[in-house]
Amino acid sequence: MPKLLLVVACALIDTDGRILIAQRPEGKALAGLWEFPGGKVEPGERPEDSLTRELAEELAITVKKECLAPLTFASYAYDDFHLLMPLYVCRRWQGIVQGREGQALKWVRPKALREYPMPPADEPLIPHLIDLL
Ligand code: C5P
Repeated sequence: MPKLLLVVACALIDTDGRILIAQRPEGKALAGLWEFPGGKVEPGERPEDSLTRELAEELAITVKKECLAPLTFASYAYDDFHLLMPLYVCRRWQGIVQGREGQALKWVRPKALREYPMPPADEPLIPHLIDLL
């Protein structure tokens, strides 16, 4: 049976209704593809705590877990593991978003998200964001 991998992701939404996406850097799996920021849930961590940790590490922002609302989740069978990925939305944070890991960032209108190639797990999340916004 394939391993189950739990990853959390977030659609940060700015005051113009644009969503932040980040480009996976060279050297990582799926390099060059655009994703919703987030990362793996470490053993013993609550998913919301993982997300606030990842957003601080990757984007230099502070998000209170009370500001995170779960919208939907991705469930996708990669060859070697099954990915389960809740997508949260967040409209309030402290700090200025910056890529701390050298990753490119873009603020994109929901309907323009399809112009950016994404991992296959992320793509089915787009219609949920279009409906929301
Ligand atoms: O980001 P990280 O490499 O730790 O994620 C582990 C795996 O989860 C990736 O190799 C990728 O297959 C998958 N993933 C994804 N969509 C994301 C984040 C991760 O499909 N937004």
